[in-house]
Amino acid sequence: MIDSLADIKVCAFDAYGTLFNVHSAVGAHRERLGEQADGVSLLWRTKQLEYTWLRSLMRDYVDFWQVTGDALDYALDANDIDNAELRDDLMQAYLKLKTYDEVVPVLSALQREEIKTAVLSNGATQMLDAANRSAGIDELLDASISVDEIRVFKPDPRVYELVTSKFSVEPQEVLFQSSNAWDAAGAAAFGFKVLWVNRFGQRPERLPARPDYEATDLNRLLELLKINFE
Ligand code: LAC
Repeated sequence: MIDSLADIKVCAFDAYGTLFNVHSAVGAHRERLGEQADGVSLLWRTKQLEYTWLRSLMRDYVDFWQVTGDALDYALDANDIDNAELRDDLMQAYLKLKTYDEVVPVLSALQREEIKTAVLSNGATQMLDAANRSAGIDELLDASISVDEIRVFKPDPRVYELVTSKFSVEPQEVLFQSSNAWDAAGAAAFGFKVLWVNRFGQRPERLPARPDYEATDLNRLLELLKINFE
């Protein structure tokens, strides 16, 4: 297993759910949503992902900022919430999402080891830039790659190809981390080595390709690459 990772040249990361806690947006305004907070957050995320898949199939791309706003409008409407100010505040909170605890130490360790790192995300370029900056991980990344370049969402194989063309590497030289099981499947189908960061104890997807590794957080990546924290 470890030997097959000897050729890894790039560690690529999904953004939302993997580096950033998407539920921290609602978390920042939890008291204003009261008992509906968790329901809104879950439906917001579910619709956001559904709209990416549907828009790719419909060949009607709009960027992830628009998709995220549309999904939020659906989630608020489904909860009978009509509050433009709250909507705006939740969208702004999406630009300042919290990272999971181990993200900064793991990215710092990779940087010390001079392993190339990249975010590969559905996120619109400006959304990603804002969130990376706000979390202080912009300086720890070699690249932040948005699907904006090709106007189609994950898991279209052309998305994963953005990493191999950016770094001039082969798919098997990329180790990709995602907490989204369907994204992990898409990346594995493309030929990346994949660590599924199963943060939420989900069951494996029944899709054509399976991740190579599974863990509950990103610390496993350092174990796989035999990197120690300093
Ligand atoms: C992303 C979504 C899938 O960051 O979480 O691409």
